[in-house]
Amino acid sequence: MEEKKRGAFSGSLGFVLAAAGSAVGLGNLWRFPYLAAKNGGGLFLVIYIVLALTFGFTMLTTEIAIGRKTKQSPLTAYGRLHSKFKFTGVLACLIPFLILPYYCAIGGWVLKYFIAFVTGNGAKAANGDYFGGFITSFSEPIILMLVFFAITAFIVFAGVDKGIESFSKICMPALLILVIGISIYSLTLKSDATGTVRTGLQGLAIYLIPNFDGLTVGGFFSVLMDAMGQLFFSLSVAMGIMIAYGSYVSDDTDLKKSVNQIELCDTGVAFLAGVMIIPAVCTFMGPDVMKSTAGPGLMFVALPQVFQAMGVVGNFIGALFFAMVFFAALTSSVSIMEAVVSSFMDQFGWSRKGASCVEGLLALILGVVVCLGYNKLYFEFKLPNGSVAQILDIMDYISNNLFMPIVALAECVLVGWVLGPSTIEDEITKSGCTFGRKTLYELMVKFIAPILLFILFLRAAGVLTII
Ligand code: PFF
Repeated sequence: MEEKKRGAFSGSLGFVLAAAGSAVGLGNLWRFPYLAAKNGGGLFLVIYIVLALTFGFTMLTTEIAIGRKTKQSPLTAYGRLHSKFKFTGVLACLIPFLILPYYCAIGGWVLKYFIAFVTGNGAKAANGDYFGGFITSFSEPIILMLVFFAITAFIVFAGVDKGIESFSKICMPALLILVIGISIYSLTLKSDATGTVRTGLQGLAIYLIPNFDGLTVGGFFSVLMDAMGQLFFSLSVAMGIMIAYGSYVSDDTDLKKSVNQIELCDTGVAFLAGVMIIPAVCTFMGPDVMKSTAGPGLMFVALPQVFQAMGVVGNFIGALFFAMVFFAALTSSVSIMEAVVSSFMDQFGWSRKGASCVEGLLALILGVVVCLGYNKLYFEFKLPNGSVAQILDIMDYISNNLFMPIVALAECVLVGWVLGPSTIEDEITKSGCTFGRKTLYELMVKFIAPILLFILFLRAAGVLTII
């Protein structure tokens, strides 16, 4: 009864699509291909897949099980399991609170490009100054951020089954079709735009074939850490989201199967993002551009130029591409907002409407500050990892690089050492299914994951500089 009152997914398909919708987002589309290109192609892919099947599987299983077991949101779930771990809940809730404003700001950028390509203005968008000119302008980024946020809030407002689940059931299949379609198209490309004839299949080879040139032990660890940091963000773990979604899952759902499906979807889309983007960029701009253009630069500067170089079909492909990015970003931002809203509901006993309004207002204020970070509030700040940051990057750094490893580490200590892995194993097998990778799970949650997480944290904090 209690479960119904706090919302529930109608079945395991709805849950898997919503969770996969959260996982598949900008991280898959703009960070994964770049990291793969930078870190020796196939080598990164292999490391990432091994990590997903071990580390990712452990974190995802733990969080979904904690959610279902406690039937609580992230803010209150950890405290329910152990009173000394309440702080983990506060941090786990702070992370999506910090991410939502800047995720919506970026969602606004995606909208801007979608509109540009749909209205046939792809050529303008391909101009090198277009992106800088847009984000440094005063009102447009704010207005588009507001639009993206309003759609997110509308879905969260409508509730778990009527809003999030129904929306994911439409959005995710559309997203998958677009991803597969654009990937196939990318492999058929051929151009002499760089002075040499290059094909999509040559780009695919660069993506898939491992490059061990000059690889050292330190270099290998660096690839490992890049892959692990990416895995976190990509799977939406250690930020409360999977706990919130897990709390809406019924007791008879086979969680093991759901975890596998979510992972497959997330890793599959990340892999295909590489198939879409790397061959296209290599064909039209040469192989080195991929290694040096990360994040926003890749999506909002290099890719529009690639679409432009495609000729007449470029506008159409560009519009489809940004529609896909838009869907991916929206299902993720919905989950980010839901993690905070459900926390407010559980902690303060507020209604969904009340909690959505409070979180919405706070996110909007911060969202405007993020947008102004490129205009009236512009400054340059050097992060411990050496990069120069604006407000958006600072919020991203605090949430993803500092807080996330701490939450994940605390979670491993709580489950591995304080409560014991059987707490999670019992929750998984409650529905009658077996726990296939039990020994692996125990080894990961008690030893390997905490050690890797600790190293990741030291690296992010700038303490470990050799890797
Ligand atoms: N996992 C999403 C991605 O790969 O883009 C992003 C994301 C979703 C980040 C939810 C944070 C979050 F709370």
